[in-house]
Amino acid sequence: MNEHYTALIAQINDWDHAYYVLDNPVISDADYDQAFKKLLDIETQYPDLISPDSPSQRVGAKPIDDYVKIKHSVRMLSLSNAFNLEETFAFFEKAAKDLELNPADLDIFSEPKLDGLAITLHYDNGLLTYAATRGDGQIGEDVTHTIKTIKSIPLKLNTPTPPKELEVRGEAFMPKAAFIKTNRLALENDSRVFVNPRNAAAGTIRQMNPKVATERDLQFIPYGIGAYEGDQQFTKHSEILAHLQQLGFRKNPESFAFKGDFAAFTDNYQHMENLRLELPMEIDGIVYKVDDLDLQNRLGFIARSPKWAVARKFPAQNDVTQLLAVDFQVGRTGVLTPVARLTPVFVGGATVSNATLHNMDEIKRLDLYIGDDVEIQRAGDVIPKVVKVVTAGSQRDPIVMPEHCPVCQAPVERTEGQAAYRCTGGLTCAAQASERIKHYASRKFMNINNLGTKLVDVLYSTGALKNIADIYSLTADDIATLEGQGDKSAQNVLDSIEASKSTTLGTFVGALGIHEVGEEGAKTIAKYFKNLPAIQAASVEDLQQVPDIGPVMAQNVAHFFSDEKNQAIIEALIAAGVTWPDEPETPATEQPLAGETWVLTGTLAQLTRSEAKAILERLGAKVAGSVSKKTHCVVAGSEAGSKLTQAETLGIKILNEDEFLALVKQET
Ligand code: IVH
Repeated sequence: MNEHYTALIAQINDWDHAYYVLDNPVISDADYDQAFKKLLDIETQYPDLISPDSPSQRVGAKPIDDYVKIKHSVRMLSLSNAFNLEETFAFFEKAAKDLELNPADLDIFSEPKLDGLAITLHYDNGLLTYAATRGDGQIGEDVTHTIKTIKSIPLKLNTPTPPKELEVRGEAFMPKAAFIKTNRLALENDSRVFVNPRNAAAGTIRQMNPKVATERDLQFIPYGIGAYEGDQQFTKHSEILAHLQQLGFRKNPESFAFKGDFAAFTDNYQHMENLRLELPMEIDGIVYKVDDLDLQNRLGFIARSPKWAVARKFPAQNDVTQLLAVDFQVGRTGVLTPVARLTPVFVGGATVSNATLHNMDEIKRLDLYIGDDVEIQRAGDVIPKVVKVVTAGSQRDPIVMPEHCPVCQAPVERTEGQAAYRCTGGLTCAAQASERIKHYASRKFMNINNLGTKLVDVLYSTGALKNIADIYSLTADDIATLEGQGDKSAQNVLDSIEASKSTTLGTFVGALGIHEVGEEGAKTIAKYFKNLPAIQAASVEDLQQVPDIGPVMAQNVAHFFSDEKNQAIIEALIAAGVTWPDEPETPATEQPLAGETWVLTGTLAQLTRSEAKAILERLGAKVAGSVSKKTHCVVAGSEAGSKLTQAETLGIKILNEDEFLALVKQET
C-alpha cells in the first residue's frame, strides 16, 4: 500500500506541475478527480501514512488564530526605483563605474516586476517547511497555511538530491483572470471587492482561514534565493532561475539577458510596455539585474536595496470617466472627506469607481462639478485620484459640503486656517466612535486581533461598545449571542482583549487616536516624557520641545489630554487593567557618544529617521543636519546624496545602516 500511495502522490504532483506550472494539462478532469479520490480514500483509511507532500495537504489546514513572526535568516531586500530610461541607465553606469567596467559589457537580466506580495519559501531536505511574508525585511509573518494552497508551489522539490536548505524567494500574485473572477463572486455574495490584484493577493494570503485561498487561484513565481545549503554552484542569477524551474517552479515570462547599453534598455522597455496588457498577470514595471553573481557580490547593498538591481516602474495610468456624485466620508477624527463616485472604468488592471478628492480646496482648484468628465489617475498602490476636468458636463451640479454630519447629524465646522471640515459630534458620532475603537484595537496599536472591524461595527450597533473603555467590560454573552459567533469565538475575543492589557506607553498613546499622532509620533512622545502623567501635564510649548513634533501635533496632543471626556476614558482604561512600564531613564554615565556630532542621510530601512536620532541622542550624540569638519560620523541609508559625498570628501567615518545597528547594539 505504501508504494502505491507514494506513486499516487508522485503521479498527482506531476499532473499538477503540468497544469499549474507548465500550463500544459496532460489528463482529463475526470481521471484526475478519480485519482485524487483514491488518494483521499487511502489517507482516510491509513491516516498515519499521510505524507507532507501529498496534494491533499494543500487544503484543509486548520485556520490559524494568530500570526506567528518569522525572522529571515537572510534579509529580504527591496529595490530602488527608476522612473525613466535615463535613471535606469544611470543606475547601471554607476554600477559599471564601481566595478571599473564599461556599462555595455555588463550582462543584464530583465524580468517583469510582478505586482503581488513578496514571499519566501523554506525547503528543508526538499520539503516545504514554511512560508513567510517579507514584513519589514528582517521579520515576516508565517503564512504557510495559505501559501500551501498555491498549486504552482511544489510541496516537495523535484530532485532526487535535494539541498539541505533552500529558501526560494518570489512573488505570490493573483493573475488578472482570477482577480476578475474573485471580484465577480464577491459582488454576487455581497462581500468585499478588491481594488487591484495586489490587494487581492495580499488579502488572500493574510487570511487566517486557508479555505478562502483554495478558491482564489493564486500563483507564485520565483525571482531568487535566500539561504542555500546544497551542492549546486551558481555563477549567474539566470542560472539560479533556470535551476528553480528544474525544481518545479514557474518561469517569469518575458525575461531576457542582454548587454547593458542604452539602446538595449530602450528596446527592452518598449517591448515590455507593448506587451503589458497582454500578460496574464499585472506587472508594475521591469526589474533589471546584473546577472553575474560575483559582480553582484562586489557591488553589494546600500541600506535595504542592492546596488546590482533596479526596478524600472511603469508610469501611472490615466483614463477618462464621468463624475456621478460626491459622497462625504467621516473619518476617525471627524474629518469629512469628499469621495468621487464615478462611472466604473478599467484602468491599469483594476476597475475604478471611486476616487479621492482630498478636500474642498482641491475641488475648487479643479473647478469640479458633478456631471463633468474627469481624468483619473491610478499609480500602483495609491487610491485613484481625480487629476482634472476634461469636459464640463452638460448639466453641472455644484459639490456642496453638508452642514450636518452624514453619520450623526451634528453640525459640521471648519477649523480656522485648515482645509478640513469636521463633524462636531466627537465621541458620540458613530463614525468616529467605532472608527476610534477599530483604531485602538488594530494590529498596529493594541493588537486585539480577534476584535476585527466587522465585530466592532456589530458590537457598536448593539450598544455593547460605545467607546474604547467599553472593550474591557465586554462579556462572553455580548459576543456569543451574535450571529455567526459562539462560545469559542467569544472566548477568543476575550482572551485577546486580556492579552492587550499589557502594553507600552508609546502604543497606548498611539492607540488613543489623537488627531495626526501616528505610531511614530506617539512613540517619540512616550520616549521623551517617559510616563503618562508627564504627557498629560505637558503644555503645547513643552510638547514642541520634542524632536519631530510640530506645532499642530503639539496642539492636538495638549487639547486631547485636557478634554475631560478623554481623561475619564483614560482613567477607565487604567482601572480596567491596561498597564505599561515607564520608559527607561538613560543614566548620563551610559553615554558613550557624548560630545560627538553625527549626521543621518538617505533612507533607512529598519528605522525611521527619528528613531535613529533618538538612539543617537540617548547615547549622548548630537544629531546635526549637515556635514562639516566637526562631524564625527555619517550614517548613510539608501539614496544618500550630497551629504554622503561631502563626508567622503572630508574623510569622515561613514557607516551603513547595518554597521550602525551593530554598533548601537554593542553600545546599549
Ligand atoms: S528582485 C534583492 N525581481 O518587487 C531584490 N523583485 O520593489 C529582490 N518583485 O520586494 C527583489 N517582481 O516583492 C525582484 N522579478 C522580480 C520581482 C520583484 C516583483 C517585487 C519584490 C520586491 C519588490 C521590490
